[in-house]
Amino acid sequence: MSGTQARRVVVAGSTGSIGTQAIDVIAAHPDRFRAAGLAAGEGNIELLARQTRLLRPDVVAITTTRPDRAAWQFHAALAQALEEAAPPAAPIHPSAAKPQPMLITGPDAAEQAAARPCDLVLNAVAGAAGLPVTLTALERGRLLALANKESLVMGGPLITGLAGPGQIIPVDSEHAAIAHCLPGWTYRDAAALHPVRRLVLTCSGGPFRGYDRDRLAAVTPEQALDHPTWRMGPLNTLNSATLVNKGLEIIEAHLLFGVPLSAIEVVVHPQSVIHSMVEFADGSTLAQASPPDMRLPIAAALAWPERLCGIAPAIDWGRSHTWTLQPLDERAFPTVRLARRAAGAGGTYAAVYNAAAEQATSLFLNGTITFPAIGDLIADVMSSSSHPGGTGITLEHVQAADTWARARTRQLARDTSAPARVTRAQATNPHPTAEGWTGPTAVTTGNGASSRPTPQTAAGADT
Ligand SMILES: NC(=O)c1ccc[n+]([C@@H]2O[C@H](COP(=O)([O-])OP(=O)(O)OC[C@H]3O[C@@H](n4cnc5c(N)ncnc54)[C@H](OP(=O)(O)O)[C@@H]3O)[C@@H](O)[C@H]2O)c1
Repeated sequence: MSGTQARRVVVAGSTGSIGTQAIDVIAAHPDRFRAAGLAAGEGNIELLARQTRLLRPDVVAITTTRPDRAAWQFHAALAQALEEAAPPAAPIHPSAAKPQPMLITGPDAAEQAAARPCDLVLNAVAGAAGLPVTLTALERGRLLALANKESLVMGGPLITGLAGPGQIIPVDSEHAAIAHCLPGWTYRDAAALHPVRRLVLTCSGGPFRGYDRDRLAAVTPEQALDHPTWRMGPLNTLNSATLVNKGLEIIEAHLLFGVPLSAIEVVVHPQSVIHSMVEFADGSTLAQASPPDMRLPIAAALAWPERLCGIAPAIDWGRSHTWTLQPLDERAFPTVRLARRAAGAGGTYAAVYNAAAEQATSLFLNGTITFPAIGDLIADVMSSSSHPGGTGITLEHVQAADTWARARTRQLARDTSAPARVTRAQATNPHPTAEGWTGPTAVTTGNGASSRPTPQTAAGADT
């Protein structure tokens, strides 16, 4: 990339936690990047307008079911943002001299933005809603900087089958760390040259590290949304508290690096400085370490395979540090084991796991269920799934499994009528359901024609 034209980037989810940090990186490196497109939901149209003023992308996309209203709001916000830009604070980016961007509004606006001419798509949409962006970017042959792990987990081999070698660049800090520790991981013979014995994913442990089920039964959404080391969007923060996020990351690592599930370990590292490790067959372990700052893996993915200068402060070796590493308590946090089992069952089970987790998280956030009930519901939904496992699934299967799992989660939460009481009682009988899932109840495969799924949105979905 160096010495050549700036990389044209579409940022999907530009107003979120990852998206805004990506915009910072792009704006600070006008010689390296040009914003080809920005896409977001309608949650923060003012911010989208300010980002547009700053970077003047070719296209701006707003995912919405009220396209006219969103367009009107955006034009008003952009006019305001342009008016507020006094000459000294005028946009610094070279592309700022361009005329106004094309605006796309509608339910598939982000997907349309990802289909526009560009070199790289950063998928920073939250949750299952990111699947169409991942599919579009891969189908169009773009480099895909993937923060939206959910789309990879849901689609599994369907996504890896679409992707060419090295087409997906991980943004998750753990997977970015592994990519940097694995020499030539994008080349097919890397495993033969550098045989891997184990991947070690680190995990902060979230706000409830050290809690047992009894204590977890009393935690509130406010506590769950207060992550000790990372500032993220609400879904990812909740997924970090339940460790669903770590479960998704195990599946993500398995799919990205081709390492068996049994060779992927999780260790709790509260300081979040070691971002993950690779243990090689000769007994040597490589780790990537830096203070927790998502701008590093974001910048590394945007510039891949190059490294940019001065993205974030490095570790201060002039002072002492204590970094601790300890095993994960999988009894208190059964979601990690459930993720392994979902991935092991194959087919749509990982999509069921993800959808049940998103829906159960939403129910916890609105006060319907307790925190441990999230894991219980995921286990119950998985055990009652008759969607295809094994291999040979299509995108239609994934879409159907996603929709079914959300409805089933809501139904199970309703059927227990007072899930909060039920799960508090279960706290004295550790893991009555969350540990009880033994595998798919029905395994079938299908070869139907694939079609583009439109998964429901994550937190905030119809409960
Ligand atoms: N945050 C982190 O530090 C972190 C770290 C590793 C991985 N990740 C992953 O990165 C992804 C984004 O996480 P985040 O924390 O940045 O989430 P976030 O703060 O909630 O931001 C999500 C972004 O996606 C947009 N969005 C939601 N639904 C959309 C749709 N259907 N079409 C287009 N845009 C849509 C949102 O816009 P509206 O708000 O307008 O809906 C927002 O711009 C997740 O998959 C997460 O697992 C995040």
